[in-house]
Amino acid sequence: MNTDKQMNSLWELIRDYMRSINFIRHTYKILTSFVGFMYDYKRFLAYGGWPENMKDMERRNYQQIYIYHRLEKSLSLKERGLNHGWNDAYKLLNLLNIARQSGSIGYHDKASKQILEKFIELPENINSEQSQQIKKELEKFDFNSSDIHGAMEYGLNDFEKGKLDQPEDFFLTRYSLREFQDKIVGDEMINRAVRLAMKTPSVCNRQAWHIYHTCDKEVKSRVLSYQNGNRPFGKNIPNLIVVTTDLKAFFSAPERYQHWIDGGLLSMSLMYSFHSLGIATCALNWGQSPKNDKLLRKAVNIKSDHTIIMILAIGYPDENNKVCLSARRPFEEIYSTLEKR
Ligand SMILES: Cc1cc2nc3c(=O)[nH]c(=O)nc-3n(C[C@H](O)[C@H](O)[C@H](O)COP(=O)(O)O)c2cc1C
Repeated sequence: MNTDKQMNSLWELIRDYMRSINFIRHTYKILTSFVGFMYDYKRFLAYGGWPENMKDMERRNYQQIYIYHRLEKSLSLKERGLNHGWNDAYKLLNLLNIARQSGSIGYHDKASKQILEKFIELPENINSEQSQQIKKELEKFDFNSSDIHGAMEYGLNDFEKGKLDQPEDFFLTRYSLREFQDKIVGDEMINRAVRLAMKTPSVCNRQAWHIYHTCDKEVKSRVLSYQNGNRPFGKNIPNLIVVTTDLKAFFSAPERYQHWIDGGLLSMSLMYSFHSLGIATCALNWGQSPKNDKLLRKAVNIKSDHTIIMILAIGYPDENNKVCLSARRPFEEIYSTLEKR
């Protein structure tokens, strides 16, 4: 009887202890989340595009892309309203004037000019007063883009070139590889994969990505020392990429998470572009504490306005490899219809 009582009070003690441990664990998670949110918020305040300082060329360029892409959309529509796009046309003209005053004309100024020219020359616009006014202003700009901007014809034939006979052969043969051949992937191949991945869609085509690459042993080990998921294979990774997005590209509160979204999309495209070239990858998580994020920034050359999205390990696969099966969840768990039942 006595031993029963003793056992019961021992269980109660253990239960109380477990409750306290859980309480501490949960409080720790809530507090560290708060610190993380504050870190993100402070970075958005410090580096986000909200101040709209148009004398800063990089910030102006993101605004220009945002606006000229809206005009591109207007140019691509089969049916357009007569008054469509004029607001944007004047805004773009204003930014071009700021660029001219600043004395430094770049890629996006040239693109802006070409798109504006195409916009005012639309049959429904060309005879309007606004068109004549903008045309006169554009004559002051003595530069032209060597690329073609605006809209283009895109037939079913073009579209179908992207169709794969056996998409499963491509998609289902990508695995995260963690051990590679002892051979660096050359710059030509890295650049090709990056160029392919740059076709990734992004919000208003802002392409706020920046990709950092290294195959330097010492730099790789510095980067990987702040990332837990690369143990024990990290020391033999041939090439490393750090995918980042530029916070300056995002102007308003609804865009506060856009850098993660656009950066995530680019990261996946990179993995597929490497896969299409016969090069293996493994994503390495950068869901990090503010402390580690700051430490990595101190250790290597990453601009403070660039948000680190993830790290990619890259290398040639061995002849024989072993990968995790990483079975996918049952389809029904991740798919349902939007209609209410
Ligand atoms: C954002 C992200 C972070 C990841 N981080 C790690 C990591 O730190 N270490 C690791 O070994 N694998 C990491 N992975 C790889 C996943 O474990 C792997 O993608 C998943 O198990 C599916 O397997 P598969 O890529 O072979 O299809 C990461 C994947 C993603 C998308």
